[in-house]
Amino acid sequence: PRILIMGAPGAGKGTQSARITETFDVEHVTTGDALRANKDMDISDLGLEYDTPREYMDQGELVPDEVVNTIVETALIEADGFVLDGYPRNMEQARELEEMTDLDVVLALDVSEDELVDRLTGRRVCEECGTNFHVDFDPPATDGVCDECGGELVQRDDDTEETVKDRLRVYHDNTEPVIEFYDEQDQLARIDGEQTPDEVWDDVKTTIEREA
Ligand code: AP5
Ligand code: ZN
Repeated sequence: PRILIMGAPGAGKGTQSARITETFDVEHVTTGDALRANKDMDISDLGLEYDTPREYMDQGELVPDEVVNTIVETALIEADGFVLDGYPRNMEQARELEEMTDLDVVLALDVSEDELVDRLTGRRVCEECGTNFHVDFDPPATDGVCDECGGELVQRDDDTEETVKDRLRVYHDNTEPVIEFYDEQDQLARIDGEQTPDEVWDDVKTTIEREA
């Protein structure tokens, strides 16, 4: 299936995408991870405000469309089924995506703003394998150590309280209209993302099985 998962920063897109790839035969296509792996890529020849993705990301701003569209287009050409996470984030990207592929399911995880701030500021990520933890909601067995691989757990550069506020503002201004767009086309399945990860997964799995 071709799955799009949407939701605010911290809504659980990455967490649920990991389960989706384990259960359904799909690739995880995520612009956030792709950009983090290439944070210092030289994009100065595009003549944009900044010369690397890092400067946009560390301020919670969107990386310019021309950079992100290319990443997604390349990944989708290679993927048969996919779960797309972190894209499209504005209407221009949504129109690009329409040119690239059709979608079978569009999921939106609904989570309140207070909960999002708690989740993001408490998130810790394994440096080695990328697994997500949370200091309160999903703590590792040993403080600071990944349960999966023993790697070191670190805080993402953009998970500080100040940058989280900026990311939520950017989401509200640019990405919420994209969710409305899919809703108006009757393509959207809204899921209560404020349940436990297992409960959210039940709803996600059922919806994909029904729609795809
Ligand atoms: P990106 O990496 O996409 O970040 P994001 O959208 O802000 O989303 P997150 O990864 O923070 O959250 P998530 O929804 O995946 O939640 P998670 O599962 O980790 O983008 C980062 C930056 O890259 C952007 O700001 C931008 O600069 C740039 N960028 C990316 N895509 C772009 C694009 N298309 N165009 C332009 N720029 C782009 O969960 C969060 C925490 O909560 C974890 O600790 C987890 O353990 C916990 N948790 C998860 N589910 C639950 C639950 N049900 N209950 C309790 N805790 C939970
Ligand atoms: Zn790990």
